[in-house]
Amino acid sequence: MNIRRAESRDLAQIVQIESLCFPEEAAFPPRMFAYLIEYAVCLVACQPEKKVLGFIMGYASGKAGAVYTLDVHPQYRRMGIGSSLISSLEEKLQRLGAETVRLEAAVERPEAIELYHKAGYRDRELVRNYYGTGKHALRMCKAILPAAKTDLRTCPEF
Ligand SMILES: CC(C)(COP(=O)(O)OP(=O)(O)OC[C@H]1O[C@@H](n2cnc3c(N)ncnc32)[C@H](O)[C@@H]1OP(=O)(O)O)[C@@H](O)C(=O)NCCC(=O)NCCS
Repeated sequence: MNIRRAESRDLAQIVQIESLCFPEEAAFPPRMFAYLIEYAVCLVACQPEKKVLGFIMGYASGKAGAVYTLDVHPQYRRMGIGSSLISSLEEKLQRLGAETVRLEAAVERPEAIELYHKAGYRDRELVRNYYGTGKHALRMCKAILPAAKTDLRTCPEF
C-alpha cells in the first residue's frame, strides 16, 4: 500500500468510495471533492498506483490544521489504512506549519472515534446537530508538534 497526493484522475474512485461509506444525503458532492483535490491537502491510499483503497482530506491555515473527511473502502478496513492516512496527513499539515489538528466525528460512528483516540486525538466538545437534526458530532483535537509544547487551548474554536 502506497500513500500519495490525490489527483483529478482519482475523482471517480473517491466518489464511489464516499457512496459506500455514507448515505447520499450525508455524502460530499462530487464537485466538492473536485474542489478539495485542487485546493486542499488530499491523500489517497493505493494498491497498486491507480487503485484507490481510501482517502483523507484536510487543510492547514496558519498554525491550525483540520481533517475534512476520511474514508476507507469497506473491503479494505481493519488493515491499518485509516491510521496510515491520518498520520500521513498530520505529517503534511505539520510541514505546512500546523501545530494542531481538529476534526469532527459522528457520534454514531464509534469505529471512527476509536481510530482517532488511538491516533492521539482528545475529545474537546459535543457539537449537537452538527450533521443535521439529532446527528451529533464529537469535536476532537491533537497537538502535532514533536516537542509537544503546543497548548491545546490555542486550538481554534476551543
Ligand atoms: C473509520 C474508518 C476510516 C476506519 O478505517 P480503517 O482503515 O478500517 O482503520 P484502521 O484499520 O486503521 O483501524 C485503526 C483502529 O481504529 C479502530 N477501529 C477501526 N475500525 C473499527 C471498527 N469497525 N470497530 C471498532 N474499532 C475500529 C481500531 O482500534 C483499529 O485498530 P485495530 O484494528 O488494531 O483494532 C473506516 O471504518 C471508514 O471509512 N468508515 C466509514 C467512513 C467514516 O466513518 N469515516 C470517518 C469520518 S469521521
